[in-house]
Amino acid sequence: MHVYILLVLCVCVRGVTSFPNGEVEESCQSMTPNHSEFKSQTSSSPYKVSVNSTTFTAGQTITVTLQAAENASEFQGFMLQAREVDGKTAVGRFTSINTVQSRALNCFNIENSTLSQASADKKSHFEATWEAPTNSSLGDIQFVVTFVRDYPVFWNMVNSSTIRSTSPINTPSTTRFTVILLALTFTSINL
Ligand SMILES: *[C@@H]1O[C@H](CO)[C@@H](O)[C@H](O)[C@H]1NC(C)=O
Ligand SMILES: *[C@@H]1O[C@H](CO)[C@@H](O)[C@H](O)[C@H]1NC(C)=O
Ligand SMILES: *[C@@H]1O[C@H](CO)[C@@H](O)[C@H](O)[C@H]1NC(C)=O
Ligand SMILES: *[C@@H]1O[C@H](CO)[C@@H](O)[C@H](O)[C@H]1NC(C)=O
Ligand SMILES: *[C@@H]1O[C@H](CO)[C@@H](O)[C@H](O)[C@H]1NC(C)=O
Repeated sequence: MHVYILLVLCVCVRGVTSFPNGEVEESCQSMTPNHSEFKSQTSSSPYKVSVNSTTFTAGQTITVTLQAAENASEFQGFMLQAREVDGKTAVGRFTSINTVQSRALNCFNIENSTLSQASADKKSHFEATWEAPTNSSLGDIQFVVTFVRDYPVFWNMVNSSTIRSTSPINTPSTTRFTVILLALTFTSINL
């Protein structure tokens, strides 16, 4: 009986601390909880990540919402990052962090680049605010989330829709620059 209780306790505690702290670079990248004996579900995720904007620019804030489908069970854990489309590292940082519901991790040496659950309380909804960096120009981004329903059941790296970067250093402005150059060239030819 005692052994059984201990086992249950052990599983629960490991369930709570399913994501390592930000010092474990490998988990920051794979976004896989430390449940090595279990694999990500292959079915489509009953949990979604949505955003309040389709575009962003340097320094802009975006509201990110994690939500369980109406008929789905609640989730216990999550790991949330913004990444450039197909990027392997987190970009930007979370602000106004709700430290009751989440804890911030410093993945990839960026303070608060990643959020994870603060407890294994069941939740159907979680909201966070993310801020685009002001000192670098990003391409298009997506929010990427691993949802943990309970200890053995998780969905690895669920993506939001793509949020288009409208920062100046992008193809459109390169095109504009080329057009100006061409115009100048033609002007000099005419002279
Ligand atoms: C996973 O947990 C085990 C045991 O708790 C630990 O030894 C190992 O370093 C952890 N791995 C990662 C990637 O956090
Ligand atoms: C999205 O949410 C952020 C943070 O609350 C807010 O500053 C921004 O204006 C919102 N954007 C849109 C398009 O509603
Ligand atoms: C939940 O609802 C979706 C559509 O809203 C449906 O495709 C799915 O089969 C339902 N899942 C369960 C477990 O009832
Ligand atoms: C941008 O600023 C963050 C901290 O705010 C820093 O970690 C990062 O190295 C800076 N990036 C560049 C390209 O300067
Ligand atoms: C990171 O988040 C903590 C709250 O969890 C806050 O105190 C700290 O100022 C934040 N750091 C940055 C660079 O935003």
